[in-house]
Amino acid sequence: PTPTPPPSYGINFAPVAANMNDTVTVPTGYTVDVLLKAGDSIESGTPYSGSFPTPADAEKWAGGNHDGMEYFELSGTDANSGGLLALNFEYPDFNILMAGSYNAATATADQKALALSAVGIGVVEVAKASDGKWSVKSGSRFNKRYTGNSSYKASGPASGLLSPTIKGMLNNCASGRTPWGTYLTCEESTDNYLDPTQPEENYGWVVEIDPYQELDLPTKRTALGRFDHENTAYMANSDSRVAFYMGHDGTPGCIYKFVCDRAYSSTNRAANRDMLDNGTLYVARFNADGTGEWRALVHGQNGLTVGATDPGNVSQGPQTPAIVDFANQAEVMVKCISAARVAGGTVMDRPEWITVAPDNSAVFVTLTNNSGRKVTDAANPRTTNRHGHIIKFKEAGNSPLAMTFNWEIFLLAGDPTLANFGAATDDLEGNINGDTFSSPDGIRIDPKGRLWVQTDHSVPGSSGDSARTIEQIFGQNAMFYIDQTTKKSMRFLVGPKGCEITGLAYTPDLTNFFINIQHPTGDWPIAGQQPRSSTIVVRRTDAKPVGN
Ligand code: FEO
Ligand code: CA
Ligand code: CA
Ligand code: CA
Repeated sequence: PTPTPPPSYGINFAPVAANMNDTVTVPTGYTVDVLLKAGDSIESGTPYSGSFPTPADAEKWAGGNHDGMEYFELSGTDANSGGLLALNFEYPDFNILMAGSYNAATATADQKALALSAVGIGVVEVAKASDGKWSVKSGSRFNKRYTGNSSYKASGPASGLLSPTIKGMLNNCASGRTPWGTYLTCEESTDNYLDPTQPEENYGWVVEIDPYQELDLPTKRTALGRFDHENTAYMANSDSRVAFYMGHDGTPGCIYKFVCDRAYSSTNRAANRDMLDNGTLYVARFNADGTGEWRALVHGQNGLTVGATDPGNVSQGPQTPAIVDFANQAEVMVKCISAARVAGGTVMDRPEWITVAPDNSAVFVTLTNNSGRKVTDAANPRTTNRHGHIIKFKEAGNSPLAMTFNWEIFLLAGDPTLANFGAATDDLEGNINGDTFSSPDGIRIDPKGRLWVQTDHSVPGSSGDSARTIEQIFGQNAMFYIDQTTKKSMRFLVGPKGCEITGLAYTPDLTNFFINIQHPTGDWPIAGQQPRSSTIVVRRTDAKPVGN
């Protein structure tokens, strides 16, 4: 049965048209402010002003390619007018760091330090002025960078295989939070490609960071598996038991959840220090009849032993299976991509963000695209999947502890005009009702149950239509509201040239949406200057909640 839609705030805005303008387009009655550009100061120092920095200066800047983001409340502050923003920097905005292109193999020590300064995360205290504009509170004790040059520790079953002190985290793609108020930042690469001298097992993890700086030092939580992590999204029940959902953005990759062994404490933050070290990681298997199951990635179970048979990337057709050894739980976590396939996980068309409905009735995951798919299955129904799809699943009993679920394809992205291109099953026209899009990536259900989707189609990319580029059909990357019942899609925002839209956070009253503009290529946000990835604030000029 179809779950009852979560309680809604309703939606009311005039959708914007697809366009290719070098600006952020929002509906009438809304305004956009730029809050934090790559090169702005996070820790006190000299910000970018048109010339290349020293490594010491860059280490204090907002890094580049802003991505996942979370808003945290501060005690003693009205959360609707001030708080902490933790945000990911996926990779450097090289154009403001150094001349020419970066080559890790030949980079000087200074160039390496500059590149690594611009990845990781930043935490900033932000505040709203009486005119409604937000700014970073300079000098706040919470303002802090964690970079590719900083030190990290590891915990959990594979920590013994990692360096005691790890240099850097990188490819901090999307993110999430825990119910105990920590930030989870996700490494979307399993090697330190900016500094190949670093041991590769040190990367590809979910890193837990306390934005309040009260708990542990930043810690790579190896119990959540090593793969190209996109984001985390949690589901908690009334007994404070919690599961974290995660996608592996690979071609293809699996969908995972980590279930903590015990309930978290809502009154004692310190009691939750090791919550992410003790639990079980599962991989999702999507059956053709619309049922699904979670299979444990535990040494000795589901074939995870020495001499296991990894079927490989079956989305590419018949593969020669590989023999993989899992001698203990540490090896299961380090070889997680292979372990998931051995255990029977379904290889999906690049799982990106996952989001959980506020009433636990649904989980949505974007499958951004997989133009290399040659063999379909029920959950990945298109060969040459250029435009991606969104899957919805419902845990048994709406419980984070469920071992089975029911699933459906929520929508197939694309555009009806593309239906006639390619082979029979290529580019099925899709079933978007309303404003069409390609390559869903960011997805988030806000606290009022409203579903928002952000796109990352490549530029110029392939539309499948030899006469028109992907931009001419869909416009530049954008953000959409999607009704969960009618699937009607409304374009809320269009980004400037060359960017992708990613990251969504908000104040509790939903009057302010924080959104990231990643890798713009024109001269946004300041005409005549270098383009810079930036966090923007979108709000209504009448100060009412977004979309209400
Ligand atoms: Fe960094 Fe999968 O997006
Ligand atoms: Ca992404
Ligand atoms: Ca993407
Ligand atoms: Ca990206």
